[in-house]
Amino acid sequence: MRGLLTLKDLKEEKIIELIKYAEKLKRGFRISYPDKKIATLFFENSTRTQYSFQVALMNLGIKVVDFDTQLSSIAKGETLYDTVRTFEALGVDGVVIRHSKDEYFKELENIKIPIFNGGDGKANHPTQSLLDLMTIYEEFGKFKGLKCCIVGDISHSRVAHTNIEVMQRLGMEVYISGPEMFNDHCAPYLPLDEAIEKMDIIMLLRIQFERHQEKMNMTKEEYHEKYGMTYERMLKMKEKAIIMHPAPINRGVEIADSVAECEKSRIYKQMTNGVYIRMAVISDSLDGNL
Ligand code: CP
Repeated sequence: MRGLLTLKDLKEEKIIELIKYAEKLKRGFRISYPDKKIATLFFENSTRTQYSFQVALMNLGIKVVDFDTQLSSIAKGETLYDTVRTFEALGVDGVVIRHSKDEYFKELENIKIPIFNGGDGKANHPTQSLLDLMTIYEEFGKFKGLKCCIVGDISHSRVAHTNIEVMQRLGMEVYISGPEMFNDHCAPYLPLDEAIEKMDIIMLLRIQFERHQEKMNMTKEEYHEKYGMTYERMLKMKEKAIIMHPAPINRGVEIADSVAECEKSRIYKQMTNGVYIRMAVISDSLDGNL
């Protein structure tokens, strides 16, 4: 299959190449594909991924075909495969898809146009991980030996699962922290206050209430006190350490309002880098390399 479905398909050298290409685009390099059209199919809510893909497409001179699930024939029972096959038949040059089903793309093996995965269930979020890696690379100029702790709702997080696999492959030390009920043992566990003092990167996650079968056994205020990035915890981080979060953020829950835009926060830089990473991925694919 063409496009980008999971980072597990990309070798470490290719990941670095895409980050360097995104940095070149960020410095002002321009490339244009004025005859191309790409459809964005979001079956789950999204602000950053959906609209940064759209901005990336516009920056590349590509026409955006915006798909509204509410007004589409999904409501009449049309399947994901038939929806994507329809866009292929209409002549679009690729599709961006977000879907709640883990590895939805396994149903799309007959599709010939590139598919760019905007997130599948709890499994993969490849462009989010690439923009996270770009932000880390910009900050530290390397991956090997860096220590990162991902804090929060690990078990429901495609960002955590994608980042842990690729960060370990790139030589980073990756840990998880947060409530035991969200620990799926995908990386070694560290108590939060130990992680705060030792890590180069603290990556916070939102509690994904929409994916919970079970009720969380604490209030948002209790969560903030036990597992949130409070102002006091931020002051205990290493001098050059940074705070990341894929967003949307819940101010006052996993991160204090006063910390969300503090000097250590790279949250809005991550969003900016998302545009350039998505430009790099789409351009590389349209050039026949992905
Ligand atoms: N980070 C992220 O995937 O945000 P959205 O859900 O808003 O796209």
